[in-house]
Amino acid sequence: MKLSIIGAGNVGGLTAMRLAEAGVPEIVLVDVAAGIARGKVLDMDDSGSVLKHSYRISGSGDITAIKGSDIVIVTAGLARKPGMTREDLLKKNAQILKDVCLSIKDTCPKSIVIIVTNPLDLMTYLALKVTGFEANRVFGMGVSLDAARFANQISKELNIPAAEIDAWVIGSHGEGMLPLPRFTTIKSTNTLNQLLDNEKVNLLIKKTLERGLEIVSLLGSGSAYFAPSQAIAAIVKAIVKDEKRMIGVSAYLNGEYGIKDICIGVPCRIGKAGIEKVVELDLNKEELSLLIKSSESISRNLDLIKPFCHGL
Ligand code: NAI
Ligand code: 2OP
Repeated sequence: MKLSIIGAGNVGGLTAMRLAEAGVPEIVLVDVAAGIARGKVLDMDDSGSVLKHSYRISGSGDITAIKGSDIVIVTAGLARKPGMTREDLLKKNAQILKDVCLSIKDTCPKSIVIIVTNPLDLMTYLALKVTGFEANRVFGMGVSLDAARFANQISKELNIPAAEIDAWVIGSHGEGMLPLPRFTTIKSTNTLNQLLDNEKVNLLIKKTLERGLEIVSLLGSGSAYFAPSQAIAAIVKAIVKDEKRMIGVSAYLNGEYGIKDICIGVPCRIGKAGIEKVVELDLNKEELSLLIKSSESISRNLDLIKPFCHGL
């Protein structure tokens, strides 16, 4: 099993370390800033001696080093700089994703591709179109991170371990996310809306929605990477161990939930083939209309992405 991570920044670097510790036998870390990829890899290699655990990890500035990978994780991207609009950033990251995905298509034609770069749902869509891979093999990590944040808020409020909370968030990753109290279960019995009144639930949802930005403003530069790298590692584990576990990922929809031709966060069964099933929750009218609204916020920006899909 060979796994490659493109983008050796905060998320890519920590993901590589977590996966090496988890026993992934061969990891390649690639970055345009070759020194960052190679330097981090030397540091991770030294960790093996402390852990008394050996792994094969290499770093490179040359993307062809990913050749033959079974799983490719894309965390390459630029951070927003002063004076840059969201639209400018989207176009810059779209160009990076396009270049990276053309290389994945050439060198790893059988791989499963996990996108992490933001804006997540649009980048996942672009990756799917550029690689031309089947939709079960290209998906994005986003709403499972949002669900982890929701579970953490619930755990603090109810004073019970987060492990006893099965939290669900769907929709677009980020501000358009849709936490689902009716599907969020506590100790596999009660649902969140049975345990807490609307006002309390709405406060937990608000804190979940604001979590990413709260972290960004405290850090001063960069965004979250500890929980994101855990969320990526959980998806990789589900693939490698063929868990067929339900995890929320940004998946291509072709009519599910009445939504077509976009990638958006929904629960999926994840196993060795990647997405083995898109799960359609029995949403009520209000939940469904909020999901459609979230999908519309993605669709509105699809026109900015489509020029990058032309001529493939
Ligand atoms: P970072 O800035 O620390 O790392 C990004 C790395 O990508 C840099 O080292 C940069 O040199 C590299 N890069 C840029 N262009 C490249 C190219 N063409 N090929 C290879 N590498 C290239 O950023 P961080 O914190 O690691 O985040 C990475 C991305 O993941 C961002 O877009 C961020 O918004 C996103 N993110 C998404 C999350 C999610 O839940 N989907 C969670 C956390 C971050
Ligand atoms: C987050 O939610 C930046 O997408 C990233 O923290």
